[in-house]
Amino acid sequence: MRYFLIFLAALAAFQYRAHAFADETLIKAKCTVCHSSDRIEAKKRSRGEWKRIVKRMKKYGALLSGDEEKLVVEYLARVYGR
Ligand code: HEC
Repeated sequence: MRYFLIFLAALAAFQYRAHAFADETLIKAKCTVCHSSDRIEAKKRSRGEWKRIVKRMKKYGALLSGDEEKLVVEYLARVYGR
């Protein structure tokens, strides 16, 4: 039982990292077409600000599905949030 719990904890940690990695890859792929990631990392912004910026980027032509847009906003708010 104890090993099973350790296994579960390791699995959860791995999935969490894999998830963050996927979000980061998504941003690298979709958000550095027109400018470098310096632009993104330059400033910490609130969730609302990130939401507005990502909407604006979509208007400029960033290719994001609705689900991807949500993931990107979540990730940016978590990592570059304030
Ligand atoms: C089609 C081209 C394009 C794509 C793709 C794009 N951007 Fe931009 N981005 C721009 C342009 C042009 C500006 C400068 C004008 C502006 O700030 O509105 C900019 C500016 C920015 C800024 C600075 C805004 C500010 O107010 O200081 C951030 C942050 C940003 N982009 C984030 C992103 C993110 C996150 C993505 C991916 C979802 C993305 N961009 C994808 C064109 C793009």
